[in-house]
Amino acid sequence: MLVVAIGGSPSQRSRSGVLLERAKHALQGKGVEVVTFQVRDFNAEDLLHARFDSPQVLNFLQLVEKADGVIVATPIYKAAYSGALKTLLDLLPERALSGKVVLPIATGGSIAHLLAVDYALKPVLSALKAQETLQGIFADDTQITYGQGNAAAQLDERLAERFEAVLTEFHQTIASRPKPVDPGVLNDRLLSARWSI
Ligand SMILES: Cc1cc2nc3c(=O)[nH]c(=O)nc-3n(C[C@H](O)[C@H](O)[C@H](O)COP(=O)(O)O)c2cc1C
Repeated sequence: MLVVAIGGSPSQRSRSGVLLERAKHALQGKGVEVVTFQVRDFNAEDLLHARFDSPQVLNFLQLVEKADGVIVATPIYKAAYSGALKTLLDLLPERALSGKVVLPIATGGSIAHLLAVDYALKPVLSALKAQETLQGIFADDTQITYGQGNAAAQLDERLAERFEAVLTEFHQTIASRPKPVDPGVLNDRLLSARWSI
């Protein structure tokens, strides 16, 4: 199973990034391969000039195509997802999320924009034909405390519990998807079906 994790924060120290990192470790613990892309690690010119053919962008597109699941984590900026995230999502082809399970994650300064994922991010995921977009998780900044020095950030108890449940749901949804039949196996099946007619 492959999951592509997309971080939409321009900030190096990032609360949505903390949740994305936690998700990555939790899924890896369940045997899932997770590849993370942070929007801030892309060449800004590739994003602003929509260079679909840049090697970095092509690598991203290929991995999204192969992925069973995609996690999209974003800070809430001006009552929506970050503009930086949108420049990356805009490079995806129209059906990029078709057949994939998508988990949205957002962090915001207050709960006032709790619904931004529903009214802003989810329509974009739906335009990319996400097969199944989970409810996801929203955390406000008071629920994630950065550690001192190299210490890991702490989630408050309620958030930690909710997040674990959300990740379990995400993993189970991906695991229960019908698996595409390997082309070699499909060929054998078709041949044997012909002989049995
Ligand atoms: C430019 C900017 C705009 C923001 N706009 C909002 C907003 O409209 N609503 C909100 O709840 N928080 C807003 N915030 C707060 C961030 O969403 C919040 O601190 C978030 O956790 C940051 O995520 P990050 O640490 O992953 O970058 C804004 C922060 C910045 C820097």
